[in-house]
Amino acid sequence: MKSILVTGCAGFIGSNFVPYFLDKYPDYHIVNLDLLTYAGNLDNLKEVEGDERHTFVKGDICNRELVEYIFTTYDIRGVIHFAAESHVDNSIKNPGVFVQTNVNGTFTLIDVAYKQWMEKPFVYKEGYEGCRFHHISTDEVYGTLGAEGLFTEETPYAPNSPYSASKAGSDMVVRSYHHTYGMNTVITNCSNNYGPKQHDEKLIPTIIRKALAGDEIPIYGDGKNIRDWLYVLDHCKGIDLVYHMGKNGEVYNIGGRNERTNNYIADKVCEILDELKPTAAGSYKELIRYVEDRAGHDRRYAIDATKIETELGWRADEDFESGIIKTVEWYLKKYRNECKKKINNPGNGIV
Ligand SMILES: NC(=O)c1ccc[n+]([C@@H]2O[C@H](COP(=O)([O-])OP(=O)(O)OC[C@H]3O[C@@H](n4cnc5c(N)ncnc54)[C@H](O)[C@@H]3O)[C@@H](O)[C@H]2O)c1
Repeated sequence: MKSILVTGCAGFIGSNFVPYFLDKYPDYHIVNLDLLTYAGNLDNLKEVEGDERHTFVKGDICNRELVEYIFTTYDIRGVIHFAAESHVDNSIKNPGVFVQTNVNGTFTLIDVAYKQWMEKPFVYKEGYEGCRFHHISTDEVYGTLGAEGLFTEETPYAPNSPYSASKAGSDMVVRSYHHTYGMNTVITNCSNNYGPKQHDEKLIPTIIRKALAGDEIPIYGDGKNIRDWLYVLDHCKGIDLVYHMGKNGEVYNIGGRNERTNNYIADKVCEILDELKPTAAGSYKELIRYVEDRAGHDRRYAIDATKIETELGWRADEDFESGIIKTVEWYLKKYRNECKKKINNPGNGIV
């Protein structure tokens, strides 16, 4: 049994990744380090409750002593690093914690890994030769695109928000440990994910939640910002491929070739809700309202995924139209269950 440290798995992508990975690989033991910030929720990990191959540790990736303790106690042989502050709006209000978690936290993890696995630059300790550090990052490090073009692995970094700047900083730390110390690293930069278990604050859960409550659905600016949407399980499959087969020191972009405007997303989700949960009040689309734009709002992101497709044979299994139906169905169930809980425990109301 090989122990790997996977950080931030009480959050959206990590909690989709853990059950997928444990199901596929019976010989891995995952040590999941997560601080359980507002974005982390152990309910997301119900599928692996009681599975001895998953050990949850509540703690901060910036806590060096704790990270060292985990590496020595579990003899960690690989890292897949998801933990981060991840919401752009929060980074505009409170940028400091983004630099702390995303930059300092990544530094702490990779520096401990270096000292545990390597004797000196370019020399791994005996038995630790295959140990790899996989850093999960975002396409937002590349900045914004005009109407044309795609982000490739060669696109120069031009982060525009404190979130993307802190992720760019963490990518650079990882890059430097490969070049300076010869560490076995890979970085994946992925486009916008959607799917089950995403925090309520993000765009798609917000549209669904507001619509079901009959509240106005807020859309930034003119709603014409474009993102390249990827179903979360397709991202997890890409991470699995890169972690096991990616080339040492390389960067891989992951994206679904599914560019959609926020207007399209809001309309599509409302249409699905109109079908699955019609109301006498008419279409949910009538609740859509344009609100003041996000400061520094990037206009368009789109990924060229040729490298991971051709070198590693990755392909997204879902397109947006198939993935979004599964996603809306999942949230309908989630909000129905929360509603039932509220009725059964009126004192513990969900707001
Ligand atoms: N969501 C997307 O669309 C997307 C796209 C591309 C890349 N990414 C990257 O993927 C990773 C995961 O994103 P997500 O959407 O699942 O994020 P999330 O916000 O849903 O989850 C982040 C998790 O990290 C934990 N965490 C935060 N600070 C921590 C700390 N100091 N120590 C330990 N744990 C801490 C939180 O408790 C939470 O469980 C991030 O690195 C993000 O930058 C996300």
